[in-house]
Amino acid sequence: MTAMTMIEPMNLLGNSTEAAEKIFWWQKKSVYQIYPKSFLDTTGSGTGDLRGVIQKLDYIKSLGVGAIWLTPIYVSPMVDNGYDIADYTAIDPRFGTLEDFDELIAEAKARGIKIVMDLVYNHTSDKHPWFLESKSSRDNPKADWYIWRDGEKNSAPTNWRAIFGGSAWQWCEERQQFYLHTFATAQPDLNWENPDVRRALYDAANFWIKRGVGGFRIDAIVYIKKPAEFVDGVADSDGTCSVHNMTANTPGILDFLREFKREVFDGHDIFTVAEANSVKPEELPDWVGERGVFNMLFEFSHVNVMFPHGEVWHYAELFKLSDFKQALTASQVATRESWYPIYFENHDKPRSVNIFFPHGSDKILAAKALAMILFTLRGTPFIYQGEELGFANAAFKSIDDYDDISSRGQYDIARADGLSDKQAMRFVHKFSRDNARTPMQWNSSANAGFTTGKPWLPVHDDFKTCNAESEARDKNSVLNFYRTLSAFRNGSDVLIRGEYEELYHDNEELFIFTRTLGDKKIITAVNFTTHDVSLPAKIFDGARKIFGNYSDEKNYFRATEAMIYEL
Ligand code: GLC
Repeated sequence: MTAMTMIEPMNLLGNSTEAAEKIFWWQKKSVYQIYPKSFLDTTGSGTGDLRGVIQKLDYIKSLGVGAIWLTPIYVSPMVDNGYDIADYTAIDPRFGTLEDFDELIAEAKARGIKIVMDLVYNHTSDKHPWFLESKSSRDNPKADWYIWRDGEKNSAPTNWRAIFGGSAWQWCEERQQFYLHTFATAQPDLNWENPDVRRALYDAANFWIKRGVGGFRIDAIVYIKKPAEFVDGVADSDGTCSVHNMTANTPGILDFLREFKREVFDGHDIFTVAEANSVKPEELPDWVGERGVFNMLFEFSHVNVMFPHGEVWHYAELFKLSDFKQALTASQVATRESWYPIYFENHDKPRSVNIFFPHGSDKILAAKALAMILFTLRGTPFIYQGEELGFANAAFKSIDDYDDISSRGQYDIARADGLSDKQAMRFVHKFSRDNARTPMQWNSSANAGFTTGKPWLPVHDDFKTCNAESEARDKNSVLNFYRTLSAFRNGSDVLIRGEYEELYHDNEELFIFTRTLGDKKIITAVNFTTHDVSLPAKIFDGARKIFGNYSDEKNYFRATEAMIYEL
C-alpha cells in the first residue's frame, strides 16, 4: 500500500494511544460486482448494457458501495462472455459506447462510487488483431506474442488439459505449429516473456486510468508465467493433466508482477484485486500489502472446500465446516498486515445459499447468515449482483440449455470419466457458472424487468417473489438486511480495523469469530446446521445482540440462525 495516494486518513482509535492507521477509500465501503450482460437491458436486445448500469446507480449506492467492478465490457466475440478480448481499449457495441462509459464514470462519481475494470491479461481472443498477425506466419513482427511450439499435427507438445476441457494445445495450419490456451481454444495465451507484449498491456491499463477508473480486478493472473521447459504432467485416467497443475504460480511470476505494478498501479489513487487460484495463504505477503504487488487477492481456499479431490465433478455433498472455517481464518491471519477481499459469490461461482448450507436450509435465513459473515470479517466485502436479494441456483434441463463454456467442457470430461448424464447434470446444476449469470430480477413483470426482448439466459422462475422491487417494500427482506448491515459495517471502526479471532474452531456446527478494537468487541456466530445447537454461553455473557436473522431470541441457536453481538 506504500505508493498509493492516501485519502481521508481516519483516526479510528479515538483517544487511544495507538497511532492512527491509514485507511483507504476502498477499505471503508463494499464493492459491488456487476456482470453487465445480465444486469439491465435498455435496448430490448436481450443482453444488459452500460446504460442499464447507469440507471441503477442509486440502487447500488443504497448498498453502501464505494466501487463497482464490471466484468469485461471490451470488444469480444463472447466465446467466454467477454473474457476473450479482441480490443483492450474499446467498448463492445453490445454494451454501449465509450461515451456511455464516460457518463457511467461521471454519474457514479457523483454518488461517491468508482468504476473498476477487469484486466484479462493471460490471454486474448483468437480474433484479436495481435493473434491474427501472430498466427499468419512464423516471421511476422508479432510472431512471438503468443506461446507457439513445434509438434506433429496430431500429437500435442504435452499432455496438458485446458481448464475448460480438451487439449491445452491447438494446431494452427498457417504456422504448422501449436499454440497454448489455458482456457478455451479461442483464448490463446500471451507470451509475457516478450517485453513488447507487456508494454502493450500496460499501455491499455493506463488508457483506462486516464479515463478515471478506480481500480482493476486482474483475471487469472497466476498463469502468465510459463515454466522454462514444457513437460508432460502426471496423467489423470484420461491420459491428460490439468494445465493448472503445470503452470499456475510458476517461480519468476513476481518479477512480471512487480514491473506491472511499477508501470501501471504506482502513484495512482486506485486499488487492485487479483484473481489467484493456487496462491496459498502463507504466500500472501509476497502478493499483497507493503511488500506485495496488489492491494487484495482473491484466493480460492474457502470456496474450494467442496472439491477435496481437485476435480469439480467429484464434489463433496457435505464439506467439513471446520475446513471452511480454517480456510477463512488462514486468510484472515495471513492478511493481518494487509487487506482481504471477502467474497462468497462471483460470476464463476454458484449461488452461495445453495452451497454453504446443507440441503433443506431456509434460503432467506441462509442469505442473511452469510451476509453477517461478509460484513463482519476483516476486509472489503464484495457483493455479487443478486446476492443482496438472496438469489438461488437455477437448474436447466439439459446440458444443451447451458451457455457456460466451462460447464459444457466439464460435463464432457465428467461423462468421459464414467459419470452418467444424470450424475453429470447434478454437478452442473449445483456448480455451473450460469447459476450466477441468470438475469437480475428487478420486479415481478415479464422477464423480471430485465429486458423487453428475449433474455439471453432464462430468468430464474422465482422472480415473482425474489426481486428488487418487492424486497425494497419488505422490511424483513434480504435486500433491506444487506442495506442495514452494510451501513453498520461502513460506520464501525471495530469492523473496519479490529483484530480477527476465531473461537471454537473444531466445532462442526457453529462458526464463531470476534473482531476486537481496544475495549470494543463484535461477535459473529452462525449455526451452519438445520437443527438446534446450544449456545456456548460464556462468549455471550454481557454482550448485546445487535443483528439476527430470526426476529426473536432464544437461548440456543435454531436452524441456520446467525447473530451479531456487541460487547
Ligand atoms: C477467470 C474469469 C472467468 C474466465 C476465466 C478466463 O477465471 O473469472 O470468468 O472464464 O478467467 O478468462
